[in-house]
Amino acid sequence: MNKKVNKIAVFTSGGDAPGMNACIRAVVRTALHHGVEVVGIVRGYEGMINGDFITMNRSSVSGIIHRGGTILKSVRSERFFKKEFRKKAYENLKKEGIEALVVIGGDGSFKGALQFNSEFPDIAFVGTPGTIDNDLFGTDYTIGFDTAVNTAVEAIDKIRDTADSHDRLFFVEVMGRDAGLIALHSGLASGAEDILIPETKTNLNDLVLKLKDGRAKGKQSSIVVVAEGDDAGGAFEILKQIKPQLPEYDIRVSILGHIQRGGNPTALDRLQSSEMGLAAVEALLAGKRNIMIGIQNRKIVEVPFEKATKQHPEIEAGMKKMMEILS
Ligand code: F6P
Repeated sequence: MNKKVNKIAVFTSGGDAPGMNACIRAVVRTALHHGVEVVGIVRGYEGMINGDFITMNRSSVSGIIHRGGTILKSVRSERFFKKEFRKKAYENLKKEGIEALVVIGGDGSFKGALQFNSEFPDIAFVGTPGTIDNDLFGTDYTIGFDTAVNTAVEAIDKIRDTADSHDRLFFVEVMGRDAGLIALHSGLASGAEDILIPETKTNLNDLVLKLKDGRAKGKQSSIVVVAEGDDAGGAFEILKQIKPQLPEYDIRVSILGHIQRGGNPTALDRLQSSEMGLAAVEALLAGKRNIMIGIQNRKIVEVPFEKATKQHPEIEAGMKKMMEILS
């Protein structure tokens, strides 16, 4: 292995995601395995600006693989958008002797890394995709997505019980500001009557007709899963628009919100986060930079930051078909 790097750092950035801790653990233990010192940066880019660094050893990451959230904390840093603060961050990294970094985050975090590296090219970044939304191009999977989907499914199953008891129609809003994958996967897995996502044009007239038809055929209760970023609006906005046309229904809205970001990661999230954390360190040590480690067809892949952040992942044809035929 090409071992030019002596000291690296790891940090989490943007919205937290279950599995980030498993990834931090893998980064720390892989670095130590290769004889590389490793530092944790607290609160992402803000911590870089503040010089908030902690030395990590094997025991710093003991007992965290099963925990949600991130032991390194996370922030969406406004200050890092300004050059003067990026310079301050650079000076802190140099003072600490950090040569390369693993950034666990999403779209905004990778764009920040790219900007920084264009100004200070002697500091290398490799990323792992940390976001429950699964909205990064070039990876089938992002850290936290599987847990978030399972949390949403568990909640929707519970809502189904009360919807059935009261013969009600529920709009359940799940997270996904720009992407509908949590809605799509949780809606399909919970047998939702309809799923509204930003990737496909939502036609509220069609939805009304479908729900009326269902009631006319004897359907007592229904669940519509809505991605928060749907083109027709969130669940409350959609309800406002279609309620007058559905007098036959007693309708309720349930917004699942941040419970989808917390909780113990699933086994899949723990495994894949660990696999990507390990690969990220080995990529840095092999001299790679400005790439995201992803997983495609069960294999580790390297995706340039520009690609991962610019292109939007497409909804797979098979999933779309299931949505059209089964819901
Ligand atoms: O991390 C992604 C995400 O959970 C989006 O789905 C959601 O729109 C957003 O973060 C919420 O962010 P915040 O916690 O900063 O309000």
